[in-house]
Amino acid sequence: MRGTDSTHRPLAGRKALVTGGSRRLGRAMVMSLAQAGADVVVHHRSDPARAVATADAARAVGVVATVAQADLGVAEACVALVQQAQDTLGGLDVLVNNAAIFERTPLATLAPEDFDRHMRVNAASVHATSLAAGKTMVAQGHGDIINIACISALRPYAGYVPYSASKAAVVNLTQGFAKLLAPHVRVNAIAPGPILPPAGEDPAQGERAIQATLLKRWGSPDDIAAALLFLLQAPYVTGYTLAVDGGRSIT
Ligand SMILES: NC(=O)c1ccc[n+]([C@@H]2O[C@H](COP(=O)([O-])OP(=O)(O)OC[C@H]3O[C@@H](n4cnc5c(N)ncnc54)[C@H](OP(=O)(O)O)[C@@H]3O)[C@@H](O)[C@H]2O)c1
Repeated sequence: MRGTDSTHRPLAGRKALVTGGSRRLGRAMVMSLAQAGADVVVHHRSDPARAVATADAARAVGVVATVAQADLGVAEACVALVQQAQDTLGGLDVLVNNAAIFERTPLATLAPEDFDRHMRVNAASVHATSLAAGKTMVAQGHGDIINIACISALRPYAGYVPYSASKAAVVNLTQGFAKLLAPHVRVNAIAPGPILPPAGEDPAQGERAIQATLLKRWGSPDDIAAALLFLLQAPYVTGYTLAVDGGRSIT
């Protein structure tokens, strides 16, 4: 049943697009938006079955949920995705820029195209979707954009220099679009620390990441989803990047 209780469903009636929403952190954010009452478009690039499963799970809690495919490494596809979400949901109130690549790029193999690829998929996509959605949001007089950055934006990882630089761009884009789209549209970011290791990561690397936090443990996708809900309900916060990192950024 479609919920209307503003206490339990504080985002009832809001319309949201989550890029890379089919799995892991993206899925947790889709589910938290749905549980809060928002209709959702679950974007994916290459995993339709998982995206459909996530949309099914969101629909089961009583909201509209659909799937959209796009390669966000292509600017035109970013714009088309935003348009598709607006057409499907009948508007767009929340854009979550979550999709990204995280590719290990050690010195021995690091090449200029690694930088180009990370900037295109992780940062240029945020620019393109924020511009497309932002114009609509400004015209309608409200909206929220949440970008998923990374703590490596401020303290780059040696084996992931292009990735870290792309996330620094995401933090800067968050501030830039917060200024560009003010005063009625807010733009914030979440900078996760170690939440879920990438597939195939050396367990010793994961252990080092944990030991570098103050809290000495992995975070959970639900921690990121909780930060998302907080930022969406914090009307005097904009241009801010919230670290959800177990204290990693100050160790
Ligand atoms: N996991 C962590 O601990 C952690 C830590 C810090 C920051 N983050 C950030 O949090 C976000 C989510 O992390 P995650 O670990 O859940 O990511 P993930 O499992 O690697 O998923 C990334 C998503 O991005 C999509 N994607 C990748 N390339 C794309 C492209 N060219 N076009 C469109 N979509 C593309 C993928 O879609 P398909 O699967 O459909 O291909 C996937 O759904 C990312 O921005 C990541 O940088 C994560």
